[in-house]
Amino acid sequence: MNKVKLLNRESSLEFLPNLSAKLGPKIYIKRDDQGGRGGGGNKLRKYERIIADALDKKADTLIIAGHYQSNAARELVGAACQLRIKSIVVCKSMIPEQNPTFNENGNALLMKLMNANIVAIDKEDDFQIEMERVAKDVVKNGHQPYLIPFGGSNLLGSLGYLDCANEIIEQFKNEEGKSPNYVITPTGSGGTMAGLVAGFAIAEKSTKVIGFSVLHKDQTIENIVTRLTDEIVNKIKPNSNLKINFELDTNFVGDEYGIPTEGGKKAIGMLAELEGIFLCPVYTSKAMAGLIDYIEKNKIQKEDTVVFIHTGGMPLVHAYYNQ
Ligand SMILES: Cc1ncc(COP(=O)(O)O)c(C=O)c1O
Repeated sequence: MNKVKLLNRESSLEFLPNLSAKLGPKIYIKRDDQGGRGGGGNKLRKYERIIADALDKKADTLIIAGHYQSNAARELVGAACQLRIKSIVVCKSMIPEQNPTFNENGNALLMKLMNANIVAIDKEDDFQIEMERVAKDVVKNGHQPYLIPFGGSNLLGSLGYLDCANEIIEQFKNEEGKSPNYVITPTGSGGTMAGLVAGFAIAEKSTKVIGFSVLHKDQTIENIVTRLTDEIVNKIKPNSNLKINFELDTNFVGDEYGIPTEGGKKAIGMLAELEGIFLCPVYTSKAMAGLIDYIEKNKIQKEDTVVFIHTGGMPLVHAYYNQ
């Protein structure tokens, strides 16, 4: 499975001394928010194989669906700029507008700076139908379209987070001599988490991956992660009887996707003040709120070592400035 190179190096693993002193366990952060074009973030690992597949299929136009504050769309446009491929964002407003500049600031602004090709559709329009309509126009104009899967969470995309699990295992050998007890990640479309779960299982580590859902509030997301994890394991190590170790918590979504929570806002302030690291109101803050709660409830204990995956999303801090 080919990869295009969108990331020049491993993401760094940083110990958080001040947060660890405040909360108890030894907490590290994996900086997947840094590096790569378009402002960086977790989707770039996924796009390395997805875009390679598009190029294998002779595609020259990448089509993605997203809203005006979509990190996934912003990162795809950045990767496409770097590789000199055309990209089209089929875009609609999905999150209730949080302030008068909500659809122009943050990711929307960065996409504009990259001169993104935005096809605006109505709120009620169906993403898949509209992507296919745009794809037909691309073909009519003599080009070859490629539709990016939702959240980059298919088998190819999720393998990017198997790479991340392997990086953590190597980095932790130097830091602690053993694998971490817990890896914490926000979970939206599921690919980030599935890649991590499969990665630790295939490496036969006891590390437990805990995903805090930011989108689904029901069993759907657990089913998605289980199916994707199985797909990765079957691809990389077929017929193995590996121990899959994960937990998916849907209690920190709050009202709905894209609406900040009180716990999340506190977490943003805590990380900024203690460590000078910025979390976002839509994804990473909700996962950090979950981690803080688990430590307070002793589900994660003082003796444990934890890696928090910083999946990116910094532009959202600006989009939600008034919160
Ligand atoms: C910053 C950030 N964190 C987490 C996620 C969720 O990752 P996944 O869709 O792989 O579950 C996303 C997805 O858009 C994201 O942009």
